[in-house]
This record gives sequence, C-alpha cells and structure tokens, in this order.
Amino acid sequence: SQGQTKSINHLQTDFSRNAPVLQRLDRSMSSVTVPPPACLLRPLEAPLRYLFGPGPSNVPPRVLAAGGRPIIGHLHPEMYGIMNDIKKGIQYAFQTENKMTISMSGSGHAAMECAVFNAVEPGESVLVAVNGIWGERVAEIAERMGELLLLFSKEDPYDSIESNDIFFAVEKHKPVLFFLTHGESSAGLCHPMDGIGDICRKHNCLFLVDTVASLGAAPIYMDKQSIDILYTGSQKALNAPPGTAPISFNERACQKMFNRKTKPVSYLFDMTHLSNYWGCDGKPARAYHHTGPVSGFFALRESLAILAETGLEESWRKHKEVSGYLQRGLEDLGLKLFIPERDLRLPSVTTIAIPEGYDWREMLVYIMKNHQMEMTGGLGPSIGMVMRIGLMGYNCEKTNADMALQALADALKNCKKTRG
Ligand code: GLV
Repeated sequence: SQGQTKSINHLQTDFSRNAPVLQRLDRSMSSVTVPPPACLLRPLEAPLRYLFGPGPSNVPPRVLAAGGRPIIGHLHPEMYGIMNDIKKGIQYAFQTENKMTISMSGSGHAAMECAVFNAVEPGESVLVAVNGIWGERVAEIAERMGELLLLFSKEDPYDSIESNDIFFAVEKHKPVLFFLTHGESSAGLCHPMDGIGDICRKHNCLFLVDTVASLGAAPIYMDKQSIDILYTGSQKALNAPPGTAPISFNERACQKMFNRKTKPVSYLFDMTHLSNYWGCDGKPARAYHHTGPVSGFFALRESLAILAETGLEESWRKHKEVSGYLQRGLEDLGLKLFIPERDLRLPSVTTIAIPEGYDWREMLVYIMKNHQMEMTGGLGPSIGMVMRIGLMGYNCEKTNADMALQALADALKNCKKTRG
C-alpha cells in the first residue's frame, strides 16, 4: 500500500531510530539472507581521548572541520589546486625544492613501500640501518625486492649509528639505497643526519629517510642534508587524521626510478603514474590513476597550513621545550629515560624504561581507564622495555605534559608491584 511505501522511504532516511521496524520488514519482504548487523544499527561511538601515545595524536578542530567539508571530485580543478597547495606545504615542511613531491593515499607504510618499490629493482642491494622497528620494517619490505644488508649500532641496538660505520658499509657493499629513520618512535631516538647524505652521494647510493615520527618536531632539511627520498605520515606532529603520507624525491632519485629496466611491483605506488596524478611530470593533463582520499587531503592541507602559519622553527622549538619539561618531570617521579643522551632523544615521543617492579600493561590500562589517556608500551623490539609518551603538534603543551605526569604518578601509586 501507499502507506507502507511511504514508511519504507521514511525508514531509509532515518535508519537508526526505526531500526527494529526495518528489521521486521526485512524478515518478511527481503531476499537477503544475511541480516543487517545489529552493531551497525547502533550509533557510532568514538570517545574523546587524550592521545598522548606515539600517534595518532589529537586532531585540532580546524583540521577536523576541513576534513568534514563537502566532497568534491578527485579530478576536479579545485582538487588539483588543493593538491598543489599540499605539495607546497610538503616542500616547506621538508625544506626542499623538489618538484617530485606528493602525498600518498595511505599511511606512512604506503610511502615506505613507494620509496623502496620505485628506487630498487630486483636483485639490487639495499642497506638498512636498524635501531628499532622502522629499520626492521623496511628490511621486511626490501628483502622482497633485492639483496638486503643490515647495519646495527656497535654499542647498543637502540643507539644511533656512527657515520664511520655507515661510510664503511656503503663503501664496502655499494648498495643502491641506504635507509635511515630520523625519528625512531619505538626507541624514542632522534638520529643525527648531518654528513650521511654526502657519504651516500659519494658512493652513488640513494639516501632514504623516514621522518614519520619526527617531522615538525625535530629539524630536518631535505636539500641541505642531501636526502634523496624523504617521507612522513599525517597523524603525528602534523595532526591530521591517519591515511595520507607526504613523500618527496630529488633529481637523483628521479633519475634512478624513471630509468628502470623493470616496472615497480606495485601499480598503485608506481611513481610514473603518481607523478602524473600530482601534476609533477610536466605533462599538460593529469590522468585518472586512483581515487585519492579527498577528505584526507583537505585535512592534510589544513594541517600543513597550520605548520606554515606557526613556522617550522617555532614548531621545533616548542617540541624541544615541552619534551625537555616532560623529561624533567619524569625524572622527578623517579623514572628513568630510555635514551640516556639528551641530544639523541626524540622530541615528539619520549621513552621511559619500565619502572622496576611494575607491570607496564597494568599501568597503561589504569591510565586509560582513570584518565582517558593513551600512553603506549614499546613497539616491535622495544616491547616490554619501554613505555612511550607522545606530545605532538597540537598536543605539545606543558599543560598536557603536566596531565601526563599526574596520570603516571597516579598509576605508580595505585598499580600493584607484580615483580621485584
Ligand atoms: C607508531 O608509529 C608507533 O610508533 O607506535
């Protein structure tokens, strides 16, 4: 009847309030055998939390609002304008003039795979510095492509690697690519960069750097430091939602990747296509390659706009100041910082050794339950060794450091000692 048709239309536009009626109608009239899942007939729940772990970090309202703007087509001229703005923002954030500068549609891992898949051909050798999870992860990716060589610190698995050791390894093995993490978030280490690009250049090796956890928090100068390929993620100090990942290639990297004998194994991450999609290849028209995350790009543009307004130097200064303040507070609580050398500590993610006699999981659960605050344990090789506190971008404030310290003090008081 007409009444019934009307009520179905009504139900379709006001799904959640009328769900039980819809289910009744479904059972009697529908051809589907899998019913709508009950969980989806309840409203979305995403609690407000203090994201004081290694990322994602809280996203400022301005960036959230940008991501909530009406969608436009991924091939509309306005979208190309926004992508051009993003490119400029990344060039500023990376301190580079590379024209081959884009954002991946995907998290930092997408950029990591894009770099390796485009720069390396099957059978070529890749040298990877390992001092935490990110070196391990790139090794996982690179070993699918070519011959893998690992480089560790002689002193301690989480320490920075001496330039001399890098020099000898590059000279001896002649890799086509050397990978180093600037901000190793699993260890809380910020690796010195100066001089390494020159070593690579001298031996005709591309220098690939991961700044996912450090960009905007610690200085990096892509051009001045002779970095050939640099990438980051959106969800750390940039404070955009996870899902986009800036990456840039200089002329040397372009020479290598656009003169390959073989196609990169990934179509989605093939820079021949991505460079056209981002208008970096000098061709008059941009062709369809894939549908980029339109809302994610809106948000990324806004986060880069905030960084441009704040200024890189101010952003670096603030992360240094707040992380120093946090570190002093942690030491006052009797906690031990995992990276002993102050200058090597990552200003975005601070690692503390797990306090003697405590169960780190219990402490983290306690802090989440009683303070609605995320801190995390270690990641990959540092699991069971550290707890991590991240105060990045929008979250990088002394008042937040105070809150994190209070939460930790509370956990130290109220979590039972299970060992020692
Ligand atoms: C992720 O990036 C992490 O460090 O946990």
